[in-house]
Amino acid sequence: MPLRPRRFALLAFVLVGVALAEAALLAVWAFRDPERIRRGSAYLRGERLAARLGCFGCHGPGGVKGSLDPTSPTGSVPSWSGGTHMMYVQDEKEIREYILDGMPSRLRESAEEGRKRLDKLTIRMPAYRALLTDAQLQDLVAYYKAVSWFETPPDEAAARGRDTALRLGCFGCHGPEGRGLIINPGSFKGYIPPWDGDDWDDLVKSDAEFDEWVKTGEISRFRRNPLAAHFLDAQQIKMPGYRDILKPGELESLRSLVGWVRSTRKG
Ligand code: HEC
Ligand code: HEC
Repeated sequence: MPLRPRRFALLAFVLVGVALAEAALLAVWAFRDPERIRRGSAYLRGERLAARLGCFGCHGPGGVKGSLDPTSPTGSVPSWSGGTHMMYVQDEKEIREYILDGMPSRLRESAEEGRKRLDKLTIRMPAYRALLTDAQLQDLVAYYKAVSWFETPPDEAAARGRDTALRLGCFGCHGPEGRGLIINPGSFKGYIPPWDGDDWDDLVKSDAEFDEWVKTGEISRFRRNPLAAHFLDAQQIKMPGYRDILKPGELESLRSLVGWVRSTRKG
């Protein structure tokens, strides 16, 4: 029996409704998908890869707390943060050599002190050459370099901004160099957006908005929008307002720092 026109209209209405709801759900998922952000950041891909390769077993969570090893002259496997990297790697090439071969060629080829020190270690750096593609190696290096602050921002204002951000604790929530992706239940995106991510342009449209974020922990554009305001209040981790503890010139330095971080982003 052919469908009566009215039933047909109802069916079409329901089907279109379901399709629209599904599209909306997919759009929200895509919008809130931290994997999308991760795919676009060498730092974040490197972080995940390091976890999967077991690097954090010896170098500690995130690479920042090396396991104790009484046979090491420093008493532990090196942490990637805290400035100790300078005792181990002289340049970026040596970072790659450590990861690929377990030691830099400088030590491999020497019969001297350094090599003897390595032979005595109980916990040794494995060689990952057989496991890594070039692109994966690059990602690991990008992660390591950010965590260890391997590069100091070249301009003075940005370098001052780094010290300010360290002093104020910005990197706790925003990750090393502000490149981290920390999950934030109840928030608009579901995570704290990295400073060098694609979300930035929606969140910080001007220097004035940057200053607002840092001074008050939010922006008036979001506060005025009922939906955005809901998320500002519902998110578990809230950006603190630093208005009362900022010193003169610090906002400008922080802005320079973020400018440097964004300009050195590796997708
Ligand atoms: C079995 C323990 C172990 C694992 C797993 C491990 N490392 Fe290491 N790693 C070491 C030790 C020990 C050293 C110090 C070697 C030395 O004294 O020269 C080191 C040194 C390094 C260095 C140079 C020094 C520094 O920390 O700045 C880098 C870079 C490094 N490892 C990266 C990695 C990466 C990346 C991974 C994972 C792909 C990894 N390591 C996995 C034990 C480990
Ligand atoms: C307690 C955690 C926390 C600390 C510490 C923190 N922030 Fe945030 N920050 C957040 C959260 C959460 C958001 C996202 C807010 C939102 O989406 O509504 C945010 C957003 C921002 C934004 C907007 C763009 C973006 O990438 O999210 C900037 C800029 C920013 N923070 C800079 C800073 C600076 C500079 C410092 C240090 C002075 C700092 N934050 C310290 C949690 C923190």
